Amino acid sequence: MTTTTWHRSHILSLADFTPAEYNTILQTAASFREVLSRRTKKVPALQGQVVANLFFESSTRTRSSFELAAKRLSADTLNFTPGTSSLTKGETILDTAKTYLAMGADMMVIRHREAGVPQAIALELDRLRSRVGVLNAGDGQHEHPSQALLDLFTICSLLDTDRPRLELLAGKKIAIVGDILHSRVARSNIWSLTASGAEVHLAAPPTLLPKLFAEYSHSSGQPNQKLFIHWQLEPALVNADFVMTLRLQKERMTQHLLPSLREYHRLFGITRDRLRLCQPEVKLLHPGPVNRGVEISSDLMDDPQFSLISQQVTSGVAVRMALLYLMGGGKA
Ligand code: NCD
Repeated sequence: MTTTTWHRSHILSLADFTPAEYNTILQTAASFREVLSRRTKKVPALQGQVVANLFFESSTRTRSSFELAAKRLSADTLNFTPGTSSLTKGETILDTAKTYLAMGADMMVIRHREAGVPQAIALELDRLRSRVGVLNAGDGQHEHPSQALLDLFTICSLLDTDRPRLELLAGKKIAIVGDILHSRVARSNIWSLTASGAEVHLAAPPTLLPKLFAEYSHSSGQPNQKLFIHWQLEPALVNADFVMTLRLQKERMTQHLLPSLREYHRLFGITRDRLRLCQPEVKLLHPGPVNRGVEISSDLMDDPQFSLISQQVTSGVAVRMALLYLMGGGKA
């Protein structure tokens, strides 16, 4: 592992990430993927450091993958479970964070159902001059940077296993299909994929894809960056190289945005038939958890010819190791 320059003290959003930062993460994750293929899958990079996982909202893969990543780097981990914590006695979220700070946490990984909570904690920790880094593990409908970075790593690794890099995506067509309105995964992916020079095509019923998403793209004015909106599935799929499907986030739907799940599947579900519109080598991604048979047909989800879903989960550990390592000092 080489020493890498990394200047960001928190990872809260991908909105202002530079191509160099994406590439540093991709390269560092590739080194950690190699570590994870060894017999002894552990390095001492974060020995003596404490990583606190503060998940105020449910999670299976993100939480376990951050925990495993920290352990593979030899950090000590603290896991917080809201239901059995002092939150139930009225403690505020900021006071919970300060409690972990007082215990010596060096980094905090934070998920919350409200947008902006990781940012608020990061601001408070900066105000206290703590030098503790905050990683946003998903905040409301805002962003989920580590998910988009693991998606990017999965796609780029498929295109060049040894040297995954942002530039590989230039000119590729990527369709993002599903509940875009409620998806923090879509928002983070739009930043990273448009930064790569890929053509990004969003597809969903109008109730789940407001027009304002057309404005939601990288502001740095890269010439080949393109973002398209479709209220029908087919134009997004035509010649697509990658199709990213998203869960219908029923827990965030406060109104009746869809006639029925069956109707949604009929119009927007990804099936073998519909994949014929895409490039022959098309690959499917889904951040999970999946509603089988709704956003994607069940057999397709398990078909290794098309599905990258388990590779995404595997990539998650290497990418999160890279994020913790870079934020923890980046020195081998
Ligand atoms: C996503 C999330 O929590 O935002 N899942 C994940 O982190 N792997 C997407 C979702 O919940 O649908």
